[in-house]
Amino acid sequence: MKQCPSKTLSRREMITSIGLLGGAALLSGCRHQSQAGADLLQPAANNPGPSAWAYFHLDPQEAADRAYRVYPDGSCMYGIVAAVLGMMAERAGEPYSSFPVDMMRYGAVGVAGWGSLCGVLNGGAALIGLFNSEKDTTQREKLTAELFTWYESTALPAYTPATPEWADRVGAAVPESVLCHISSAKWSQATGYSSTSNERRERCRRLTADGTAKVVDILNRSLGNPAQFRNISAETASCNSCHGPKGMSNSIGFMNCRSCHDLPSSHP
Ligand code: HEC
Ligand code: HEC
Repeated sequence: MKQCPSKTLSRREMITSIGLLGGAALLSGCRHQSQAGADLLQPAANNPGPSAWAYFHLDPQEAADRAYRVYPDGSCMYGIVAAVLGMMAERAGEPYSSFPVDMMRYGAVGVAGWGSLCGVLNGGAALIGLFNSEKDTTQREKLTAELFTWYESTALPAYTPATPEWADRVGAAVPESVLCHISSAKWSQATGYSSTSNERRERCRRLTADGTAKVVDILNRSLGNPAQFRNISAETASCNSCHGPKGMSNSIGFMNCRSCHDLPSSHP
């Protein structure tokens, strides 16, 4: 059973004793405990509020090059987040320079090797969430939808490093899915390289650079007024019109349905 902190421990003591992130994780299982527990979840005075994490315009190409460079330190999710926040920290200092980018290493190979959500998208969505953290989900979902539909439908990688480090030519394929497993398999089928090849490692490194340029482009455009973003595909929208929350409610999500479902011709 998880130990919940006593009501008498002050917020500041909590934060200094276990660190901000550890505190939030520890407390998340204790929400039901008491009003005092809920109070502990409020940001402390020395914790920068959401507005401190403002986004400012970055150069997509510079961000892509940086992601390619830092990739070996922590893989895909780390690469995209370290590139963007690293550039912001160099120009503006705090709070960007205190962000614990090392935690993003968990995203490698679709979350700690599980082949689920591609780390480039996980990291990209984390950045979108960092700069669009309001309770209302509208803006965050719009920006994320463009990033995810772009990934599903674009031949990747497209980025070419000035000096390729792990392999010269890696080919390209449309991932057709936001999942690491499917994305990697589609690329292997198209190029003939195995999932353990140097080409595959180089492919993911370049793909991280592509995703970084894309998320920077999306965030740059989000500064414009009004900002327009690409929505989920027409096909997924049509599937969801019958299966989604306003229809039969037997399906959740916006992923490319065809990447897993082969429908019989008799299907409506
Ligand atoms: C016009 C409404 C409609 C649209 C659009 C639609 N479906 Fe269906 N779908 C149905 C109905 C009705 C069933 C049968 C439900 C049952 O028999 O329980 C079904 C069944 C299914 C099933 C489960 C049974 C099976 O046949 O394997 C899947 C999976 C499915 N649909 C996926 C999709 C996907 C993916 C899309 C988009 C490409 C889609 N559907 C678009 C109405 C729709
Ligand atoms: C990553 C693979 C994957 C993707 C992408 C996916 N599905 Fe599924 N879906 C599944 C699996 C696995 C099941 C469970 C099948 C089973 O148990 O028969 C399922 C089940 C369903 C069912 C049947 C539910 C029921 O009650 O029988 C529907 C309807 C469905 N999916 C629709 C969709 C639609 C619409 C999309 C796109 C928005 C989609 N799926 C995307 C894998 C996927």
